[in-house]
Amino acid sequence: AKTHYHDFVVQATPVKRLCKTHNAITVNGQFPGPTLEVNNGDTLVVNVVNRARYNVTIHWHGIRQMRTGWADGPEFVTQCPIRPGGSYTYRFTIEGQEGTLWWHAHSSWLRATVYGALIIRPREGSSYPFTKPKRQTPILLGEWWDANPVDVVREAMRTGAAPNISDAYTINGQPGDLYNCSSKDTVIVPVDSGETNLLRVINSALNQELFFTVAKHKLTVVAADASYMKPFTTSVIMLGPGQTTDVLITADQSPARYYIAARAYASAQGAPFDNTTTTAILEYKSAPCPAKGPSLPPVQPSLPAYNDTATASAFTTSLRSPSKAEVPIDIDENLFITVGLGLNPCPPKSRSRNCQGPNGTRFTASMNNVSFVLPSNYSLLQSHQQGIPGVFTTDFPAAPPVKFDYTGNVSRSLWTPVRGTRLYKLKYGSKVQIVLQGTSIFTAENHPIHLHGYDFYIIAEGFGNFDPKKDTSKFNLIDPPMRNTASVPVRGWAVIRFVADNPGVWLMHCHLDVHITWGLAMAFLVENGFGELQSISPPPADLPVC
Ligand code: C2O
Repeated sequence: AKTHYHDFVVQATPVKRLCKTHNAITVNGQFPGPTLEVNNGDTLVVNVVNRARYNVTIHWHGIRQMRTGWADGPEFVTQCPIRPGGSYTYRFTIEGQEGTLWWHAHSSWLRATVYGALIIRPREGSSYPFTKPKRQTPILLGEWWDANPVDVVREAMRTGAAPNISDAYTINGQPGDLYNCSSKDTVIVPVDSGETNLLRVINSALNQELFFTVAKHKLTVVAADASYMKPFTTSVIMLGPGQTTDVLITADQSPARYYIAARAYASAQGAPFDNTTTTAILEYKSAPCPAKGPSLPPVQPSLPAYNDTATASAFTTSLRSPSKAEVPIDIDENLFITVGLGLNPCPPKSRSRNCQGPNGTRFTASMNNVSFVLPSNYSLLQSHQQGIPGVFTTDFPAAPPVKFDYTGNVSRSLWTPVRGTRLYKLKYGSKVQIVLQGTSIFTAENHPIHLHGYDFYIIAEGFGNFDPKKDTSKFNLIDPPMRNTASVPVRGWAVIRFVADNPGVWLMHCHLDVHITWGLAMAFLVENGFGELQSISPPPADLPVC
């Protein structure tokens, strides 16, 4: 196994999109940021230097960070932020994961421009469980704001209203030819007739689930969230923010140019079609050259409608582990966690300025009616390891305070969560099941729920209210998919299982940034077991403190 060293300089860089240039925060001046490529078993050492005027941290999304929780990255959870002028070296080993992950800033909304692909090839000396493709192409789906994304979220927090939606969706940082001033920079993916390409598709958008397709071509799904899947063929895939899907595509159509396209799914923002489709082009190298002959428009894709829940769930429920999975049985901790929005009444004096949400309220969000608040004086992990009191409590509830119809319109009294930094304590090695139940408070939507420090099995998902009497019969304990982010279906639920074998403090949150901003998060405190192999390593000497 190798050790890979990288320097990440976080800095302001002029970036031109949609006819305008503004200073975006980037890594090494690149947007999207550098692609990291490693083999399973390798170690990554990334020295992050902050030359920007914002606090920053980097999260290695989906990396298990076994006993190296200090390198996980969410600010005020596993570390205090790297201040302007400061630096921090993340050091961790990839243990057992293969496929596609990514890295992103985990501080305010900086991840809008601070993100990149993290490719994990098979362990040295071993091979892919499918025919090795000729080419591999990372496809990062993203969102672009004409404004500074940090200002966008600050303004939303100041007013209590929903933040401005993005001005474009992007593929590898480019909006594509449906947007103004973007046509000549549309990303081209070249192919030779007959060859197979592995597209490593990553949804790095902030606030949007996306459908993804390539006109006229079949996609063979082989992995998701750096776990292999039983291969199956589809024409469209759906990814929530945070999720990745590896697909094989064979250039078996007549030589031409074909649209690669992504479009918003279950848009709660009601954005019009043209603003929610981003394009790139799959170009056969033998296709007639557009510069010479008459310009050939790319072949049009066929994308599901933005509210096509049936197609989304047909995709997520097709994912399977390639062989019999080791699903935890004999559960020690059985949690039921609601995920959804809420509205907070305004403090009387601030009514006009701070309460521009619906009917003079402020938006909020919660899990089991607790709206998560980050500490500011210590990270949760530091406070736990060093026994610093008063930073958090461990009374996150195992079930919601009241039961109601989560899919329907409920009484306004249930719309107001309480704020708190409440963790749920897990014994080392405990077997955990969580029913994630979406609520339809204010709005019903799909929530991509991400757990740090773990992969989990998604043993079932469905619509309506989860019913422990009926729905347990739907549990797949044979070959469920293993992921790090579960799409909880709109007006529905998902059930996940994992073994708490990684000590530390691990955030679980909705990966729609607007929702985590409003408090749709909680954290697990996983205790050390016995001895070094069951305990978190000591903090690195350069760990930023607050
Ligand atoms: Cu990809 Cu907590 O994040």
